[in-house]
Amino acid sequence: MKRISMSLPKKLLNDFDEVLKDRGYNSRSKGIRDALQDYIVRYEWMNVMEGERIGILAVIYDHHYTGIMEDFTNLQHEFREYINGIMHIHLTEEYCLEVIVVKGDVKYIRELSEKIMRLKGVEHVKLTTTTTSEK
Ligand code: NI
Repeated sequence: MKRISMSLPKKLLNDFDEVLKDRGYNSRSKGIRDALQDYIVRYEWMNVMEGERIGILAVIYDHHYTGIMEDFTNLQHEFREYINGIMHIHLTEEYCLEVIVVKGDVKYIRELSEKIMRLKGVEHVKLTTTTTSEK
């Protein structure tokens, strides 16, 4: 095993510790290993999807973060071909939830969600898709 040290926001670490406690973990390192594994599996799973999909992208972000509104809007314009609708909810004084209905080649839906994830000020992105073709 290799040792690493890292910096985390206090709240994230507290929340993570809460989850570990609820799940009965007694080792934070084990919790982090499992979380990383889960992150990798989800990414790989997302990458094997192909073809036409319809889905929902849920994004939570801090609208006070400098540039986020402009960057997010620019991305939505760039990917307008794959966006069927957007719902914006002002969650708290700071946070907004945006639910984006996406449709099209999953390659571009994935690209959009990856680009949103990389925006500074975005706290959470969740992509759920299903197939549009009949089985
Ligand atoms: Ni808002």
